[in-house]
Amino acid sequence: MVIASAPGKIILLGEHAVVFGQPAVALAIDLRLRCRVAPSKAHTLNGAPLSERSHPYIFSALQQAWKGAGLSVETSSMLPSGSGMGSSAAVTVAFLATLAQASGQELQQRTLANQAFEVESQVQGRASPIDTSASTHGEGIFVSGRGGEELLWHIQRDTREWFIHHCDVPRLSIVVGFTGINAPTGPLVAKVKRYTDHTTFARDIIEEIGQVTMEGMKCLKANDLSGLGALMTRDHKLLAILGVSHPRLDKLVQASLPYSYGAKLTGAGGGGSMIALTDHPEMVAEAIKRKGGVPFLVKTGVPGVRIDEP
Ligand code: PMV
Repeated sequence: MVIASAPGKIILLGEHAVVFGQPAVALAIDLRLRCRVAPSKAHTLNGAPLSERSHPYIFSALQQAWKGAGLSVETSSMLPSGSGMGSSAAVTVAFLATLAQASGQELQQRTLANQAFEVESQVQGRASPIDTSASTHGEGIFVSGRGGEELLWHIQRDTREWFIHHCDVPRLSIVVGFTGINAPTGPLVAKVKRYTDHTTFARDIIEEIGQVTMEGMKCLKANDLSGLGALMTRDHKLLAILGVSHPRLDKLVQASLPYSYGAKLTGAGGGGSMIALTDHPEMVAEAIKRKGGVPFLVKTGVPGVRIDEP
């Protein structure tokens, strides 16, 4: 029997602009997904026969990384699926880690991150490696279009490439507010692409988001929460101009601001979740609840994938 766990993530700054080669920062959060595997006659997941349709991530990971006999796979998660906190990446990364351990391989973050990105690409079509790399590495990752200091790995697919760097992260207190709306990433990315194809204004916004992200990196390093919060709120406004916010996201951001350093949507937008950086998580959570959102109190500065029981 092997047990591994992997964290979910939030995107702190830079979503959407990262699709155009601008930098982004993603942070692992202390909501983890645990995966347990044990030998079995046939492949099962949480007691049910494994099926490609119902369990695409586990199915695809098995095809890619397992030559052995049947496995009974059990998962338990603190991450609500469809909320934009990276639950599909966490299940993929944690499961691949159990497979590596069960095959007697050394656990290597770079290998796992690449394998997990392959799995997400296969299941989702056009995926980005942000979620899988953040879940694998933990702490924080800084993603950019070229390599720099503290480079962890480089991932390439067709004409796109991502350089994933380590980013030191203090223990921040963040409240995630889920709108309850499950919005797929693909159409939102396509919407921004159309907008940038047609107007220089949208291209300028993308560039400005890149600058905001770079300034945010400096604040993170200096532990300047007021500066970071102000940049998050600015990023939200820029993302709203790009058309990827949602009235419910705007409402949750507005409701959080009186008790926060700053707040913004996180991930693709169009629904999904927002985040608020705060010293008063309980008050922010109350404000989010009052506006019909579902709050999650999370902390950053947490480890990536790990074997909990070998
Ligand atoms: O929805 P998420 O949390 O996986 O984030 C999507 C991030 C985007 O920048 C919108 C898309 C991408 O591929 O980077």
